[in-house]
Amino acid sequence: MENTSDGYDVFDPRVYARGLPHDTFKALRDHRPVAWQEEYEVLGWPPGPGFWAVTRHADVVRVLKDATAYSSYLGATQIRDPHPADLPFIRRMMLNQDPPGHGRPRRLVSRAFTPGRIERFAATARDRARTLLRAAREHGPEVDLVRTVTDDYALLNLTDLLGVPAADRGLLLAWTERVIAYQDPDEPAVLDERGRPVDPRSPAMLAEMFRYAQELAAYKRAHPADDVMTVLATSELHDAELEMFFFLLTVAGNDTVRSAAPGGLLALAEHPEERDRLWNGEVGMDSAVEELLRSHPPVLSFRRTATRDTELAGQRIAAGDKVVVLHASANHDERVFRTPHRLDLGRTPNPHVSFGDGPHVCLGAHFARLQLRVLHEEVRESLAGLELAAPPRRLVSNFINGVKSLPVRTRWREPSAPPA
Ligand code: HEM
Repeated sequence: MENTSDGYDVFDPRVYARGLPHDTFKALRDHRPVAWQEEYEVLGWPPGPGFWAVTRHADVVRVLKDATAYSSYLGATQIRDPHPADLPFIRRMMLNQDPPGHGRPRRLVSRAFTPGRIERFAATARDRARTLLRAAREHGPEVDLVRTVTDDYALLNLTDLLGVPAADRGLLLAWTERVIAYQDPDEPAVLDERGRPVDPRSPAMLAEMFRYAQELAAYKRAHPADDVMTVLATSELHDAELEMFFFLLTVAGNDTVRSAAPGGLLALAEHPEERDRLWNGEVGMDSAVEELLRSHPPVLSFRRTATRDTELAGQRIAAGDKVVVLHASANHDERVFRTPHRLDLGRTPNPHVSFGDGPHVCLGAHFARLQLRVLHEEVRESLAGLELAAPPRRLVSNFINGVKSLPVRTRWREPSAPPA
């Protein structure tokens, strides 16, 4: 390869556990906007062929919009190459398909995410936020908001929307943690007979989840309800597609909100003047939620594969090369955002790419925004102050910008009314 990383490393999952590497992102945006990254052996995972890291906003959007040149199908959408034997299986997920084939499943699932169904959900989310905050209050002025509020908030909202019975919620959590947190040494690794980590996206690792998806679908056909699994189970999706949707929604819908919720609260704790503007009503909740998503994008990267020889920002890319877009860098590109490192909760317009762009733009964005808006409204009602009691712990991952703990010191307001 004629190009090198020039010492700038945005691949190492451990980098992100120290916070977003903004200096590296900026250097890459300025000097090597499409930069070659070595994919060396890390945390027991074997080396890979390397990839192009795309850091400028305009180029990230270009890659995400141009599925003809940058495929989600060829090598799927994660930096690490799947085992070739697993590729046909992984490609059954719409996330890993290209237009025009991607359009059919996308339309079918979109039917389950109607604005009406999502809006009806607001009252449930509000009750849940209140209940969790009241319970957190019992811990006193110092509390970990991840353990007491945000982890459960994201998971329980998703299981409600999907229609997963309360008794099975723990299963979902275990499955999604296995998939998302597999790079983190805090997570128990699943090893093969040679002691190498097993890819959590392989069919063997997902068998239990798929069996459950079929059982739940059968139950929903017999007991239809106002939830996403009922819509999917009674649609024209085949069994294998249905399983993959369940997997996709479980992972896509949980860890993203589990990251956005504490990420936003962390930003408010770190910027008391902006937090006051929000809590006094000087800035609106909608623009605040967007700015919090811009400054703390839950997704760090998505991968595409070049379908042909092409060029991006002057860099030649060969057919078959991996091309990885870095959302956090695009969201801080000074070519698009004035004072990108300033948290400005009133920022408009705010063309951040936290939900992606192009044919795969997030299907759950409306649901995610609603959850975040309701959570921040209830936090504003419950808390009179918010400061960090200790540094947060972050996930070791180059995919999800996870926050594992958020110890804060706060003053609780008197509750205004008991939960409904
Ligand atoms: C703040 C929270 C969220 C963020 C930041 C987020 C981010 C993203 C991003 C960046 C993509 C694009 C993937 C790509 O380019 O290949 C995506 C796709 C997707 N998201 Fe989200 N997401 C969030 C919440 C949710 C929720 C709550 C759900 C569902 C309950 C969901 C369901 C999906 C689905 C199904 C796709 C695949 C769409 C397709 O392939 O056409 N997401 N999300």
